[in-house]
Amino acid sequence: MIDQTALPIKLTYVLYTRPEQVADAIRSMVVRGAPAIGVAAAMGLALAAVRSRATRLPDFMKEMETSAALLRRTRPTAVNLFWGIDRVMKVAAAASTVRGAKDAVSAEVKAMEEEDVEVNKRLGRNGADLIKNGDTVLTQCNAGALATVGYGTALGVVRAAVEQGKLVKVLVPETRPALQGARLTAFELVHDRIACTLISDTAVGHMMSLGRVDCVIVGADRITSDGYVFNKIGTYQEAVLAKRHGLPFYPAAPCSTFDLERTHDRVIIEERGAEEVVEIRGRRVAPRGIPVANPAFDMTPPELVTAVITDRGVVRPPLGESIARLIA
Ligand code: MRU
Repeated sequence: MIDQTALPIKLTYVLYTRPEQVADAIRSMVVRGAPAIGVAAAMGLALAAVRSRATRLPDFMKEMETSAALLRRTRPTAVNLFWGIDRVMKVAAAASTVRGAKDAVSAEVKAMEEEDVEVNKRLGRNGADLIKNGDTVLTQCNAGALATVGYGTALGVVRAAVEQGKLVKVLVPETRPALQGARLTAFELVHDRIACTLISDTAVGHMMSLGRVDCVIVGADRITSDGYVFNKIGTYQEAVLAKRHGLPFYPAAPCSTFDLERTHDRVIIEERGAEEVVEIRGRRVAPRGIPVANPAFDMTPPELVTAVITDRGVVRPPLGESIARLIA
């Protein structure tokens, strides 16, 4: 996989052969973005499967459970992580021999890899109609090819609109503290020659007040049964500002991002290390001893969401009910 911590300065590929390495990569954000960590975790588990020397199925499953638990502990908010792990465990549990389980797991993760790109392309086409020729789309973080196996969710919608021949410009907030906007979204868009402008996170309201945003399209890490959208910190304030300026706010997410088992009050928002805030790319910018809060995600309530763009269509309010109908 691409080492996303090195972008955009270096485009480096890393190779992992053990589930522990994949768990570290997810934790340290070498790989990040909800769909990408879902498939990466599944592949980490597949490594555990193919490496196993167990000859009896119960011993094999015990090893798989240990690796699954390790991968589950990496990041708590994106539900795709748990979706990917559960999908592999289900396939392994259905096998009747160790050999059969190894083969089934390998086939399943390859299918997941291929499906992810197809799902994003479908999602992109579903959302592209919401973008008009000449629109400027505000996003947040990186919900692009890097955050998925390929094509992207929010940026997949932009890509699909561009493929339809529309002129689209993307406004890219830098997305402190880890700078996924300035480093990753900017990298992808510049690479693909899609028109874009980088702004500081604090410029969002001002740009809207000048009429320089037509709609907001963001990714999602989890959308709960009551229609709350969990995404990168800063998304909620974009939604509030969009409402203030009468702009549509669209999260874009595949169905693997829906969590119908939970309401918003039961979701853990990841708190990351203070160094991400007191430093910028390894250089200290805040005084020593300052207390720091670093929530990595926020939640946007359904009343601020115009519609959710999914691979199965565009879902409109009341979100909770529409999502349940869509999944059913
Ligand atoms: O902390 P990150 O970089 O993993 O956060 C990623 C996001 O918030 C994305 O918007 C989300 O995962 C959707 S990616 C298609």
